[in-house]
Amino acid sequence: MTRSILISGGSRGIGRACALHLARAEAAHLVLLGRDAGALADTALAVGAAGGTADVFVANVTERTRLAEVAGHLDRLDGLVAAAGISGMTPVDGPTDAFFDEILATDLAGPWNTVRAFLPKMASGGRIVLVSSVLGRFGVPGYGAYCAAKHGLMGLAKALALELIDRGIVVNAVAPGWVDTNMAKTGIQQIAAATHQTEAQFRAQAEAAVPVKRFFQPEEIAHGIAWLLDPANTMQVGQCLNLDGGVVQS
Ligand SMILES: NC(=O)c1ccc[n+]([C@@H]2O[C@H](COP(=O)([O-])OP(=O)(O)OC[C@H]3O[C@@H](n4cnc5c(N)ncnc54)[C@H](OP(=O)(O)O)[C@@H]3O)[C@@H](O)[C@H]2O)c1
Repeated sequence: MTRSILISGGSRGIGRACALHLARAEAAHLVLLGRDAGALADTALAVGAAGGTADVFVANVTERTRLAEVAGHLDRLDGLVAAAGISGMTPVDGPTDAFFDEILATDLAGPWNTVRAFLPKMASGGRIVLVSSVLGRFGVPGYGAYCAAKHGLMGLAKALALELIDRGIVVNAVAPGWVDTNMAKTGIQQIAAATHQTEAQFRAQAEAAVPVKRFFQPEEIAHGIAWLLDPANTMQVGQCLNLDGGVVQS
């Protein structure tokens, strides 16, 4: 049976790579959410070329009414990946209250909103993966909002895992390290500027701090997420899979 898998943030980056991986691997039907209609349409085309099918919905994960409306269009879901997210610096003594609120609303409440809206469509055997970060494992100066959201997401994954396991729904999280996407590009620019380095200097420093000495491609993260989405995975429950080249070892 063709699996139907919803991906928030399916328009770009890691979410898009997950969609293409699942299209190639199992000709999955993808339900892709994002705010950019053009990027969603482009990903849907690529999904078709990779052997899958896709429905796209312009939806902001902070808007619960819109998510409920989208859920009304769906019959059944076998998997859900909460990949939509934003990042950026929120120094505690900067003028950043609004951005702090936006990051928490998108990166922590967003996955909550998404799971709540689409859970009624998910039967026993369903798989949910929340995309956290290594910044859900440790702190980075200037990234209070993002670290708080990503740490919080791990707590959410643990609680939901126990709440839903009796329904046969398996919930886990992943914690990627640096992944070459727009988000990483912006992060490098911001940290390089804040630490008075060139972007090349900061990137070299960041790569040197990873035991495997490199950033990752979105496809590599998709591979890990697909493993957690696999119905064969019945052992990983409420866990966080580190996808970071050895940075975090617990
Ligand atoms: N790149 C990294 O180094 C890295 C490392 C660890 C964790 N992560 C996490 O991985 C996830 C994906 O990030 P990425 O690197 O792929 O970043 P990206 O290339 O910037 O993609 C972010 C995705 O999230 C969507 N999105 C953002 N805000 C949204 C909102 N309010 N409602 C709906 N969709 C929204 C974007 O779609 P639209 O623009 O179409 O809305 C886009 O599809 C994020 O949760 C991020 O925190 C990334």
